[in-house]
Amino acid sequence: MKPAARVALNELRAHAEDVAGMHLREHFAADPARFDSFHLDLGDLTLDYSKNRISRETISRLVALCTAADLDERREAMFSGQTINSTEGREVLHTALRNRSNRPVIVDGEDVMPAVNGVLEGMGRFAEDVRRGRLTGVKGDRFSHVVNIGIGGSDLGPAMAVAALTPYRGDGPKVLFVSNVDGAHLSDTLAELDPAKTLFLIASKTFTTSETMTNAGSARAWVADTLGEDAVGAHFAALSTNLEAVSAFGIDTARAFGFWDWVGGRYSVWSAIGLPLAISIGFDNFLAFLDGAHRMDEHFRTAPWAENMPVLMAAIGVWNRNVLGLTSHGVMPYDQRLSRFAAHLQQLDMESNGKRVTLAGEPVDYQTGPVVWGEPGTNGQHAFFQLLHQGTDIVPCDFLIAAEPREQLADHHAKLAANCFAQTEALAFGKTEDEVRAELAAAGLEPADIDALAPHKTFPGNRPTNTLIYRCLDPATLGMLIALYEHRVFVQGVIWDINSFDQWGVELGKALASRLLPVVRDGADAEALDSSTIGLVARFRSLSEPG
Ligand code: F6P
Repeated sequence: MKPAARVALNELRAHAEDVAGMHLREHFAADPARFDSFHLDLGDLTLDYSKNRISRETISRLVALCTAADLDERREAMFSGQTINSTEGREVLHTALRNRSNRPVIVDGEDVMPAVNGVLEGMGRFAEDVRRGRLTGVKGDRFSHVVNIGIGGSDLGPAMAVAALTPYRGDGPKVLFVSNVDGAHLSDTLAELDPAKTLFLIASKTFTTSETMTNAGSARAWVADTLGEDAVGAHFAALSTNLEAVSAFGIDTARAFGFWDWVGGRYSVWSAIGLPLAISIGFDNFLAFLDGAHRMDEHFRTAPWAENMPVLMAAIGVWNRNVLGLTSHGVMPYDQRLSRFAAHLQQLDMESNGKRVTLAGEPVDYQTGPVVWGEPGTNGQHAFFQLLHQGTDIVPCDFLIAAEPREQLADHHAKLAANCFAQTEALAFGKTEDEVRAELAAAGLEPADIDALAPHKTFPGNRPTNTLIYRCLDPATLGMLIALYEHRVFVQGVIWDINSFDQWGVELGKALASRLLPVVRDGADAEALDSSTIGLVARFRSLSEPG
């Protein structure tokens, strides 16, 4: 961490002794209009951050922390295409992919926007041709299904967005996603499909990822076996930065949609990797999705820190993590169609900020990215919310909800919203032992029973949450929400002085799996391995032997 940022963080820790000991009940009692000063509107999107253990002074000090971390300079470095991904020698320009202003973005002396717009146009043509049946299978059938084969960033973002925007599908094909190298994923997906009506998109930035290439090979065999080798061309397209490998796989480069190494995998839904989404919702809606993200970019670029949504969310996250010492972060969309939102944010946040050394390679002596997890409400309430309310770990959570339901089904949406708000209320204010005792006495319980039950029924409260409300989950709103979290991750990475854009931590497991494959599959020599791995492989092989 930069020395000035370290000073600011230490000052925050000293300040925490005054403020963090104060219960949220006291914060709200002291300032009955607390919501007014602790919420932020951006168009139809509102962030309520009043239910955090903070005061106005905390916000000023968090702003000072951002300034001390040179956030201004780092943000400019990202938007202007400097090589901020230092360990991979790359720029970080996912914002250029949704730069709807077309302001030039210069990389190596050249404006990238014409190339960005060129790919976007090609994606638009292809998506609409597939949706309208102008592009067909080899036998002239309209595509009823599109199967995206990819993993990590080449799966999670588009899969989440396709699910989120299901109502925009119209009469377009159904888009499915296969990621896991477990053959069950591909088999179960293909079991329902007709090869003559299925289009595969092979999505891989590198076009070398083992899971994706294995699934792509099996999908190719499925098409070739059922429709003939010559059918492959009509049933495959590719999304990649590695166009040579796409050709080698046998996909015509006219059906390959490229992007650039300055797009990180987990930031790639805005690039050609977004093609399955464009096919699912139509190109105009895809452009609206980019517009929403661009709107958030402009807000992030221009709003003062204290009125800047991603900055506030990031800074409060740092307060929770580095000052209050909280170890995980929950994301609870009260929006069933955001069922994969937490999974996408897991990669976005944990692959970006799960780092143990600074940009200069020094081990950090403070906590970096938290564990991110979550499930849609109200399901989570009937599963793990018990721990959120009464467990020994405090988990700060974001709650998300749309004001307008898509489905006019009785009072479902009012019930959903009531539950969402009730949870943040219960987490913040809890229920004191005195309240519990009074309630039990009013219900006519004996004093001994009250003594026995009261501790179990007491809720400590004082558990921090943010709530995000938006009008409805439309493409622009989804774009804004994803970009909001991307910038939140960026700001935290700047404060922690880490590289949020590499992912060396995934490499060792990949290398070991390649080394183990011949041992597991072919029984190759296992001598150099540890006894646990040798034992597991031997047991695996003996159990998998027929008969
Ligand atoms: O294993 C991690 C990772 O490199 C992610 O960062 C990436 O999103 C994913 O694998 C897939 O990579 P690719 O798009 O190159 O297949």
